[in-house]
Amino acid sequence: MASIDRSDPVILGHVLAEHHELFCQMMAVRSAFADKAAVSQGRVDATLVALHALREHLRCHFEKEEEGGFLEESIARMPRLGPAVAAIMKQHPFLLTELDALIKLLSAGDSSPATWEQASRGYECFAAHMQAHERTENAVVQEGYNEDLGLLD
Ligand SMILES: [Fe+2]
Ligand SMILES: [Fe+2]
Repeated sequence: MASIDRSDPVILGHVLAEHHELFCQMMAVRSAFADKAAVSQGRVDATLVALHALREHLRCHFEKEEEGGFLEESIARMPRLGPAVAAIMKQHPFLLTELDALIKLLSAGDSSPATWEQASRGYECFAAHMQAHERTENAVVQEGYNEDLGLLD
């Protein structure tokens, strides 16, 4: 049997790739909001496309994490990480709900600057929560695999 103390480069590489992909999708939505041009229905629609893509990606990402893999493996390696992993899993539905609220807000057919501004602020709030979430996850993997991945910056 392979030594459990050794990090598994396949799993770790996968975690990094997944989180990088997520980061790219989040940046796509952020740049949709960042454009200083006046808001229009076309812009709202384009942002909704990016938000829906991010939502679907996130749903799959969470599902994979919940099915097992690196978080479960981290507990197997270091049982004291159990509560931290349980707390991470609990955040998943809340993060999805936050995105759903944004999608609902922008889907109401109101492309006024006030609504756009509200959605933009809501997205920044979601992004901050998401970033904190991924940071905690990376910390758990780093600890579970006893490996400095340089992920905590
Ligand atoms: Fe997660
Ligand atoms: Fe994640």
